[in-house]
Amino acid sequence: MNEARLAAPRTQYVGFVLVPKFLRWRHVLVGGLALHSAKVFPTRTVRTGDRVVDAGCGFGDTAIALARIVGSSGSVVGIDCCDAFLDVGRAEASAAGIANLAFVEADVQSYRFQPIYDFCFSRFGTQFFENPVAGLRNMRRSLKPGGEMTMIVWRALADNPWLALPKQIVLRYRRRRAITRRPAVQVRSRWPTAASSRGNSRSPAIQKSSSNGSTPA
Ligand SMILES: C[S@@+](CC[C@H](N)C(=O)[O-])C[C@H]1O[C@@H](n2cnc3c(N)ncnc32)[C@H](O)[C@@H]1O
Repeated sequence: MNEARLAAPRTQYVGFVLVPKFLRWRHVLVGGLALHSAKVFPTRTVRTGDRVVDAGCGFGDTAIALARIVGSSGSVVGIDCCDAFLDVGRAEASAAGIANLAFVEADVQSYRFQPIYDFCFSRFGTQFFENPVAGLRNMRRSLKPGGEMTMIVWRALADNPWLALPKQIVLRYRRRRAITRRPAVQVRSRWPTAASSRGNSRSPAIQKSSSNGSTPA
């Protein structure tokens, strides 16, 4: 922990929103994300005895899986900036009798890695970096020559309509509400529009709306 630097102070958001919500919906989150790592792990060359980093490991299920793969002659360090998530991983590793795994609360972007690792992994952790270039460079520093790095991240929003669609719907709904709830009298900025400049261009354009919100002709 002496090398650890926290990514962010423990804010109210972390304590009252982020952690309780993620704990409550953990089974949905981790259950879904695990499908992706289950496809990727068999394609990697992680061996017995390897040293592994799991960056942004969250609740630690991938760190635990990797600790099982490398066995007692290897080791895994799971790093995350949210210690409450790591506590879940610590408890589960302890209950499973896994002793070759350490969880460290730190910012992966600035953690002072020793270049001793065979494999640096992240499942959906790197996409949250404030500075992705610095973060990925720092992960690279953890590797010894010949080491491998694998990260799983979403592609662009256009490739993931399930992520983009809710936002589009909310924005469409908000736009519709904004139109129907337009105030009866609207004072515009001092810059005259084409319509207002037909009248007195020095005064602000005042536009009256009928009671149902539509602008009278
Ligand atoms: C979507 S969650 C994924 C967690 C886990 N890897 C999984 O797949 O279940 C992203 C995780 O990255 C962590 N994270 C984001 N930025 C980080 C940073 N700069 N340093 C350490 N952890 C970070 C978050 O706290 C969070 O646990």
